Amino acid sequence: MNEVYIPEIFNENEGELHIENVSLKSIAEKYGTPVYVTSALRIEQNYNEILQAFRKRLDNFSIKYAVKANSNPNIIRILAKMGAGADVSNLTEYELAKLGGISDKKIIMTPNNMDAQSLREMSKKGITINFDDINQMNSVKDSLPEIVSFRINPGRGRGEFPGTTTAGPEAKFGLPLEKAMEGYSMAKEAGATKFGIHMMTGSNVLDPAYFGSISSVIFDLSIELSKKLGIEFSYIDIGGGFGVPYRPGETRLDMDKVAENICTEMKRKFSSAGLKIPDLYMEPGRYLVSDSTVLVGKVTNIKDNGKIFIGTDMGMTTLLRPALYGAYHHISPVISGAKGKTIEHCKIVGQVCENTDVIGEGRTFPTLSVGDLLAVFNAGAYGYSMSMNFNGNLRPAEILIRDGKDIIIRRRETVQDIVQTVV
Ligand code: LLP
Repeated sequence: MNEVYIPEIFNENEGELHIENVSLKSIAEKYGTPVYVTSALRIEQNYNEILQAFRKRLDNFSIKYAVKANSNPNIIRILAKMGAGADVSNLTEYELAKLGGISDKKIIMTPNNMDAQSLREMSKKGITINFDDINQMNSVKDSLPEIVSFRINPGRGRGEFPGTTTAGPEAKFGLPLEKAMEGYSMAKEAGATKFGIHMMTGSNVLDPAYFGSISSVIFDLSIELSKKLGIEFSYIDIGGGFGVPYRPGETRLDMDKVAENICTEMKRKFSSAGLKIPDLYMEPGRYLVSDSTVLVGKVTNIKDNGKIFIGTDMGMTTLLRPALYGAYHHISPVISGAKGKTIEHCKIVGQVCENTDVIGEGRTFPTLSVGDLLAVFNAGAYGYSMSMNFNGNLRPAEILIRDGKDIIIRRRETVQDIVQTVV
């Protein structure tokens, strides 16, 4: 099977691609292109899938949505209404989570190299912080949060790309295993009485066995720390990283198996150590939002230079992942073309003055013409949130589909928007 996995919210009707039965062509006509189009239903389905898989095994399980994946407050609100908390990495993401309706007590912060003043500000609000380093904890020793937690680098990590592998010797994140004892004992000396522990080892992993095995490292460590330091962990946060199928032939991560692997290990290890099972937190970003969204763009030129370049109004400024990591996003015409005729090995590019300005390469399409619409799948995670204004490109609009209706959740940027900070 070499098909690309596409969720059921997408369907073809009379040769036209629809999302939740709304025609993408009509959205493009109404709002222009490029445009991000998101299904609220799909986000809810993804959230429920994770929640059910874990809650049937563990009552004290919570999801902290990693806001960095898609930080539109209207998207955050969908998850907030379902009961999600948020993982934020800085003060702006904190404000966005609040705008999305998530209360302080459900927000957790996992900052990296944050200044002491910002750490203190968060701590004073009662936000739990997963400290990235002992120095960072020490910098706010006089006003520690109620629960002190460290992000642990378990010495190995796994991600789809080197750039998205966030643990192991090359990663800038977290406290190495061998410094964990020192960190927690210093926190205890500084007066902390409640503790948490966190890891985030890489992004877009499709192997369910990995999550059980890497979580076990943290389970073992927290048991060791509990025994040696006489402390108790209120929560264990296993971060995000849960992958989605982007490429042909990839299958959806078996979330039930992920939950089984993690929960079985956790219950077994804590019970045999005679310790109370801490709350379990998970911080998925991609898994919740990636496949809820397509980016729709328009063909603006077709150039045959020996190699065929499909020029579009999308590019690395609209969707950075292909340029930054060589990431694959499935692309398909919104209106299926004449059967039989194809253009092969083409490169889909944008209008940016960089040769890295690529959305996809080596692709085969039915014959395309200028003005045709293309849908880029899995654009919901790290799509808009990593978009930018380089070359004066204006960021697109974002549309939410809810119960068959299209709702604009972010208008297209204007030149005025990008010059308003100029003094
Ligand atoms: N928690 C923390 C502390 C994180 O740093 C991240 C992602 C997550 C949770 C969520 O991970 P997810 O479930 O989405 O894999 N820009 C890259 C992904 C970088 C992920 C960085 N941290 C990409 O486009 O693939």
